[in-house]
Amino acid sequence: MAAAAMMFAACCNKQEAATEVNTADMVMQNILNRKSVRSYNGDSIPADVMENLLRAAMAAPSGRDLRPWQIVVMTDKSQYETVFEGNFNMQKFMESGAVIILCADTTFTAPTRDNPDGPAVTQVNQMWRDDLGAVTENLLLAAEAYGLGACWTACYPYPDRMDPIKKALQLPSTVVPYAVVPIGYHDGTTQPKDKWDPARVHYNRW
Ligand SMILES: Cc1cc2nc3c(=O)[nH]c(=O)nc-3n(C[C@H](O)[C@H](O)[C@H](O)COP(=O)(O)O)c2cc1C
Repeated sequence: MAAAAMMFAACCNKQEAATEVNTADMVMQNILNRKSVRSYNGDSIPADVMENLLRAAMAAPSGRDLRPWQIVVMTDKSQYETVFEGNFNMQKFMESGAVIILCADTTFTAPTRDNPDGPAVTQVNQMWRDDLGAVTENLLLAAEAYGLGACWTACYPYPDRMDPIKKALQLPSTVVPYAVVPIGYHDGTTQPKDKWDPARVHYNRW
């Protein structure tokens, strides 16, 4: 009986290990297959898929767990000319299923570290850029997993890109549009780049 139980346990462990390997392979494949896709077929993105993309974005790590992100999802193409006027590639946006604007509140309100029992004060969050980079990459990886193409499109720190967005969307003064990500279904012709370069890796010292 004990032997059977042990065999069963060994068998389960093997299955678990096999599942883990498959999951690792799938995650690695997804990361390595991600690429910037700049042309789409115009199909809209189902609501449940969009919610999962946004869930992935918000699962990003965050300094002091402040989670400074705010996300604007745009699908109304009649607004694009006003919101994205400036030097964006408009064709990319018009062909996409949605354009996601990843924003950050650059401040946070809490008691200071010097006086943790004191009153809440508004402070500068020095890590919002790092957090938003992680949010953006999570979104791109989730898009890849759903067979969608996406392209990280810089917004911050360019005033000619940020200002029309801030104005058109009436963003609060402390909120910065960090990146704009068009997402859409595509023809699959864009290939990922192989960026692996062992010469960039330094073990223990340069
Ligand atoms: C911070 C950042 C800003 C970027 N801005 C733009 C942009 O404004 N327009 C664009 O077409 N691609 C932009 N990209 C995408 C890069 O051009 C792309 O990631 C790079 O060429 C590598 O290609 P890959 O994403 O297919 O691996 C940006 C990427 C990053 C990380």
